[in-house]
Amino acid sequence: MKFKLIGAAVAVLCLGMGAVTAQETPVAKREALMKGIGGSVAQLSGIAKGDKPFDAAVVKTALTTISTNIKAFPDLFPAGSEANSAAAPAIWENNTDFRAKAAKMGADADMVLASMPTDQAGVQKAMQTIGANCNACHQTYRLKK
Ligand code: HEC
Repeated sequence: MKFKLIGAAVAVLCLGMGAVTAQETPVAKREALMKGIGGSVAQLSGIAKGDKPFDAAVVKTALTTISTNIKAFPDLFPAGSEANSAAAPAIWENNTDFRAKAAKMGADADMVLASMPTDQAGVQKAMQTIGANCNACHQTYRLKK
C-alpha cells in the first residue's frame, strides 16, 4: 500500500516535470528563440530572393524578432543545461566570447533596423550583414546533430 502511494506520487511528479520540459526549461526557451530567428531569416531571404514582394512591415517585424531574440538568448544557458540540446560545451568554457558573438548579431540587427531597408536590394544587404553571424557562432557553439 505504502509503495503504491509512493509510486503514484512519483508518477505525478514525473508528469509535472514532463510539462516543464516541454515549455519552460532553458533549453526549450532558447531553442524557441532560435526557431524565431530562423523563421525571420526565412522571411527576409524570401524577399531577398524575390520569391516574396518587399513588405516593410514584414521586414521590420522579422528584424525586430531577430534583435529581441538574440539578446535574450545568451542568458538561457545555466550550468548543466547542455543535456538534450545542441549547445556545445564551449558555451560554458568560453562564455565571454559566446556572449560577444550574440551581442554582435544584436548590434548588426539594430544597425539594419536604424536604417530600415526600403527595397529588395536593401534586404539582400541586410541578410549579408546579419547572416554572417549565424555560422560564426554555430561552428563553435552549436553541436552538429
Ligand atoms: C551567439 C551564437 C549564435 C548565433 C549568433 C546564432 N545562433 Fe542559432 N544556435 C546557437 C546555439 C548554441 C544553438 C543550439 C541551442 C540548443 O540546442 O540549446 C542554435 C540553434 C539554432 C537553430 C535550431 C533551433 C532548434 O529548433 O533547436 C536554428 C534554426 C538557428 N540556431 C538559427 C540561427 C540563425 C538563422 C542565425 C543567424 C541569423 C543564428 N541561429 C545565429 C547559437 C547561435
